[in-house]
Amino acid sequence: MKLLLKIWRQKDAKSPGKMVEYPIDGVEGDMSFLEMLDVLNMQLVEKGEDPVVFDHDCREGICGSCSLMINGEPHGPDRLITTCQLHMRKFSDGDTIVIEPFRATAFPVIKDLMVDRSSFDRIQQAGGYISVNTSGNTVDANAIPIEKEAADDAFNAAACIGCGACVAACKNASAMLFTSAKVSQFALLPQGRVEATERVLNMVRQMDLEGFGNCTNTGACEIECPKGISLENIARMNREYLMAATKG
Ligand code: SF4
Ligand code: FES
Repeated sequence: MKLLLKIWRQKDAKSPGKMVEYPIDGVEGDMSFLEMLDVLNMQLVEKGEDPVVFDHDCREGICGSCSLMINGEPHGPDRLITTCQLHMRKFSDGDTIVIEPFRATAFPVIKDLMVDRSSFDRIQQAGGYISVNTSGNTVDANAIPIEKEAADDAFNAAACIGCGACVAACKNASAMLFTSAKVSQFALLPQGRVEATERVLNMVRQMDLEGFGNCTNTGACEIECPKGISLENIARMNREYLMAATKG
């Protein structure tokens, strides 16, 4: 396959960026999108040029590191997969592919296609934990009965890998889907109820402090999320927030 890549190049957070065109040949359908970029980078290095910087780690859809905007869609044209799971057979010979970083004020560009998503870490640190007694009298988690539906919903919320596609897809750069998944995975379980009030207030406060926008119920986040995180989590977080704010 012969392709034309249009890639966002930016030296650092302070420098202006621009799209640069890279023709590439010999791309196989079985290559992953990141392997295709590896091939491009090898060619750039051989020519003495600066390779394209992009985030990746596990390359199997688990870590949430890969984060490319491909032809205007976070993680590209396929559904329920991350960029590292996208294969070049999704494209055709002669295609032009536009590759950009996830764009949001709270995700500043570090270099080229790599953005700083530490704002997500700070939201997690604000409340994404539970306190348990680890003194030797720890209660076995399996000894606490939890109804099947709540366990399933909590498990589904916990599938969020913190990739940031929801923010990139949202016209408001809202982090509500991410934050609500992190609130929900605890709100649905008895272990998470102990700190439920402070958790939702603190995580939402941190989300706002980081400069993420508000949710206006468009639903682009749910469509682009590689883990199928449901908008129901946002509704649950809003209810949790209202209850906590009323208590406070
Ligand atoms: S909610 Fe989905 S899109 Fe957003 S960070 Fe989690 S896994 Fe990624
Ligand atoms: S590199 Fe880990 S999810 Fe893509």
